[in-house]
Amino acid sequence: MSIDLEQYLVKKEPYYEAVGNEIDLYEAAYSVRMPMMLKGPTGCGKSRFVEYMAWKLGKPLITVACNEDMTASDLVGRFLLDKDGTKWQDGPLTTAARMGALCYLDEVVEARQDTTVVIHPLTDHRRSLPLDKKGELVEAHPDFQLVISYNPGYQSLMKDLKQSTKQRFGGLDFDYPETDLEVSIVAKESGVDKAIAAKLVQIAHRARNLKGHGLDEGISTRLLVYAGQLIAKGIDPNAACSMTMITPLTDDVDMRDTLNAAVQTFLG
Ligand SMILES: Nc1ncnc2c1ncn2[C@@H]1O[C@H](COP(=O)(O)OP(=O)(O)OP(=O)(O)O)[C@@H](O)[C@H]1O
Ligand SMILES: [Mg+2]
Repeated sequence: MSIDLEQYLVKKEPYYEAVGNEIDLYEAAYSVRMPMMLKGPTGCGKSRFVEYMAWKLGKPLITVACNEDMTASDLVGRFLLDKDGTKWQDGPLTTAARMGALCYLDEVVEARQDTTVVIHPLTDHRRSLPLDKKGELVEAHPDFQLVISYNPGYQSLMKDLKQSTKQRFGGLDFDYPETDLEVSIVAKESGVDKAIAAKLVQIAHRARNLKGHGLDEGISTRLLVYAGQLIAKGIDPNAACSMTMITPLTDDVDMRDTLNAAVQTFLG
């Protein structure tokens, strides 16, 4: 079976600022093909890190956004009907296993547990994937690696990975970068100067302190980049901040006032 590897290669080096020794740790994990789990809040750099690692390792990357309606067939593959009858089509996990890609299952806790167990034989010594419906056992390519991500804040008891799933992975914790690094990232990604980026980061710090006190989640690095992009386009900083750092975050009137006050303090 021929698969077009080219389309999954990350051709240009993604901009990624290392936060700690995560690049070395990931490379060591990859060298023994250890499945990896990346944990951290939304918009803190998990996906960017995976793209960067795929580029650095020179391996194709197949990303799957998981959701609760996803079935095992969506990952593994299914028979499709065409004019000549039925034809098997590999799912993204099978494609990745066959061609030796990094398979990134984003927000994996969103998937139902009966879906997640299909990754079990691929993530232990077997490194194989049984295609039950097709009657084929796919041996994973030596380069194949599975990476999953999730936000530890979101899952309830009902929505968590089983221990037998968790304990197949090495884990890396991600969080918003420390101040100076986040300022550099926001400036570089959005085009605003460092002085403005620093103010945006200070506003974010205020909001992050409100997590659990009226906010489910703090302002992410991603939203700071959005704010910076609008400001770089000449939009009034107050309007840019409310559009990107307040409106998407909360509908609570008091909380919006509090966040607006923080914006006024630093940018007003
Ligand atoms: N260490 C970093 N180096 C470079 N850019 C970063 C870094 N951390 C965050 N960013 C910026 O933050 C944005 C959001 O990061 P990313 O999309 O990787 O978040 P995520 O953790 O995957 O979030 P989600 O859980 O919502 O998918 C990136 O597009 C990038 O602009
Ligand atoms: Mg992501």
